[in-house]
Amino acid sequence: MKPKLLHISTIGCQMNVYDANQIAGVLAPLGYIGTDAIESADMVIVNTCTIREKAEQKAFSYLGRLAKIKIANPSLIVAVGGCVAQQEGETILKRMPHVDLVFGTHAIFRLPEMVRRIESSRCRIVDVRLSDTIDVDGPVAGPVSDGQVSAFVTIVRGCDNYCTYCVVPHVRGREASRDPDRIIEEIRMRVEQGVREVTLLGQNVNSYGSKEGLCSFAELLARVDGVDGLSRIRFTTSHPKDLSDDLIRTFGRLEKLCHHIHLPVQSGDDGILKRMNRKYTRNAYLEKIAGLRTACPDIAITSDFIVGFPGETDRQFQATLGLIESVRYDGLFAFMYSDRPNAPAAAFSGKIAESVKKERLQALLNLQETITREKHQAIVGQTLQILVEGPSRGLKSDDTDSASQPVRWSGRASSNHIIHFAVPDDLLTKKELLTGTFADIMIEGAHAHSLWGRLIRGPKNAAPGKGETTIAA
Ligand code: SAH
Ligand code: SF4
Ligand code: F3S
Repeated sequence: MKPKLLHISTIGCQMNVYDANQIAGVLAPLGYIGTDAIESADMVIVNTCTIREKAEQKAFSYLGRLAKIKIANPSLIVAVGGCVAQQEGETILKRMPHVDLVFGTHAIFRLPEMVRRIESSRCRIVDVRLSDTIDVDGPVAGPVSDGQVSAFVTIVRGCDNYCTYCVVPHVRGREASRDPDRIIEEIRMRVEQGVREVTLLGQNVNSYGSKEGLCSFAELLARVDGVDGLSRIRFTTSHPKDLSDDLIRTFGRLEKLCHHIHLPVQSGDDGILKRMNRKYTRNAYLEKIAGLRTACPDIAITSDFIVGFPGETDRQFQATLGLIESVRYDGLFAFMYSDRPNAPAAAFSGKIAESVKKERLQALLNLQETITREKHQAIVGQTLQILVEGPSRGLKSDDTDSASQPVRWSGRASSNHIIHFAVPDDLLTKKELLTGTFADIMIEGAHAHSLWGRLIRGPKNAAPGKGETTIAA
């Protein structure tokens, strides 16, 4: 069979990245192999996101640009997947004559059949059916790239929390947890492919298994910890309301679980939290933070924030800044509120002007930048163990140190900090010995966005139980 070229373009969260890999996996038996070159592709799939207004606009403008490519190559199949596809369905076909297929977030396993039909009869198809349970549960471990150290594994699909600003429950459907045996099977496949670190994904991993009566999330983590050849476990996202004491105690107990938690708070004001339907208070959140720091003193904590939620007063925004000051996050993501289709907050009164949202966003980011700099400076002089990922990519201009070293590599500390280091010449010829191994880096400098240091020990075989081969650096 002559290979056909597939270009997948992904916008959005890690779940979309995972889905893109599954899409590549289910289409491989039809002869599709991945390509970066869109002009020579036989099929282009745009995997879209609609979490904020801007993400949706980005998806539509990208799709609009594909019209020209289709004129140059009329046999090209253009498919739209992901959350905008789920939200808009047939409207996309009506609005965009160059689109052949619109498939929703639950339609990935039905793709091969739909693509075959389009290939044979050039029909146009929409499939945005959602189901409440997981009817096909892989695992389809799609392709990994050369030297890929880390992989995502979705463990919970959908969301039942209905935060009032959020579109996710409407485009990803009801919460459904995957069978633990399938999850373990998929992780083992990844390890066989060379992966050393997995990030377990869900909109709220903390409620894993509760609906179906499967094991708890803490129990699942213990099972994943036992997978031979796996070095590290991460997970995202945790909802504060479901962060159990049992799960908190898991940090520092499980050998492979990284010392980092992403715990989105959204706002530091109880009135706003209530209207967001977050189901926790500022104090309850702070108690969880204290519990995490007791269980695991060096745990890194990150969060998400929304500024300018309808009705947010200046005093309420100040409460958010106060929360950031007391938690002192290791990093955060902050977003200006935007109305989303079907999300109740779209109908709330007291909409905040764009200019005020911008000011609040800037004030919040400035505060966090100061905290990040101070926290980064405190790491200078320490030695951190990193899992080496490969040559450094996309260093920002303010992140290059003056003594710039010839070849930079990078890896992540358990805290999720990205750390750059220079590779000694004698190790450069043995790249395969570095990628996917643990190395000790003495941190020499810090910038707003990154840390760098000197390789003092490593590489060490990252897979425990296989004998630690330490090569002197
Ligand atoms: N399930 C995760 C969040 C997924 S969406 C959780 O519960 O935390 C990622 C982030 O996008 C959210 O944490 C929130 O900060 C932001 N977000 C979601 N809807 C938004 C909206 N309508 N406007 C602005 N930001 C939004
Ligand atoms: Fe959206 Fe809330 Fe679900 Fe997160 S928990 S995906 S913010 S509804
Ligand atoms: Fe976006 Fe859908 Fe993820 S809306 S953030 S791609 S769940």
